[in-house]
Amino acid sequence: MSEIIAIANQKGGVGKTTTAINLAAALAEAEQRVLLVDMDAQGNATMGVGVDKNALDATVCDFLLGEKGVAEALEVVAEGDFYLLGANGDMTAAEVGLRDMKNGRSALKRALDDISASFDYVIIDCPPALSMLTVNALVAARGVIIPMQCEYYALEGLSALLETIESVRQMINRELSVEGVLRTMYDGRNRLTGEVSSQLMNYFGDSVYNTVIPRNVRLAEAPSHGQSILAYDSSATGAAAYRQLAGEILGRDDNEMADGRTQGAKRAVSSLFGRRRKKA
Ligand SMILES: Nc1ncnc2c1ncn2[C@@H]1O[C@H](COP(=O)(O)OP(=O)(O)OP(=O)(O)O)[C@@H](O)[C@H]1O
Ligand SMILES: [Mg+2]
Repeated sequence: MSEIIAIANQKGGVGKTTTAINLAAALAEAEQRVLLVDMDAQGNATMGVGVDKNALDATVCDFLLGEKGVAEALEVVAEGDFYLLGANGDMTAAEVGLRDMKNGRSALKRALDDISASFDYVIIDCPPALSMLTVNALVAARGVIIPMQCEYYALEGLSALLETIESVRQMINRELSVEGVLRTMYDGRNRLTGEVSSQLMNYFGDSVYNTVIPRNVRLAEAPSHGQSILAYDSSATGAAAYRQLAGEILGRDDNEMADGRTQGAKRAVSSLFGRRRKKA
């Protein structure tokens, strides 16, 4: 069964797309079959993996509105099993169309039901709004990863996000839970970062990932080359961080993930450990 994970936070610029792309790439590197779904009209995840959002044959919008089959919208991202369902400005039409549609909140879930068995992980990049598109992602997902920048206003708006998750859980998707809170653009030298980080630990406890994503200029550069950090600069600190995050999600330790960089070791790791999850 595939794990469907939404990367959500209605706050803009907190690292949702960076996390969606690089977590997806790190899971693919660890020999998982991965589908990245871009639910944002900005199309940043689409462009960030090297697919031209303006040249898509079909977008997530087309199959959400039932105009095209999912298979027509799948784009191959890289060698191996890494695929994309891309988005562009057409997603704005999806937002409107879904509101008029009966059971519009479950459109993504219905569409993914047809294909998710072909993937180990489906990673959904949400737009910066608690919109119909984000609700669709939450209805389809089993887990939510909440990226948070450890700065003064980070906690603002968090209760609205948690309330939305809880109401989707109660009304439509009993399976849904917060998979984890991810500290992004982390600067350990900054006192405020430490304070906000402690607040997050107090509030979310074990649900805060041990992995922190450091502020790393290579992570910011990679999308303009249409590459994940793993492809753009495999030895960057940002690449190590996203490998470690994938390791936490897969229940593997850092050495196993680092070994996974070479093809031979990757095979050995998978055959030895298979897929284990950290959390029950
Ligand atoms: N760890 C990091 N270090 C340095 N720059 C980063 C890091 N993470 C993200 N960025 C940069 O910060 C900006 C915002 O990141 P990103 O696009 O991932 O956020 P987002 O939450 O998806 O934004 P939006 O809400 O607009 O969708 C981008 O320019 C990105 O390259
Ligand atoms: Mg984004």
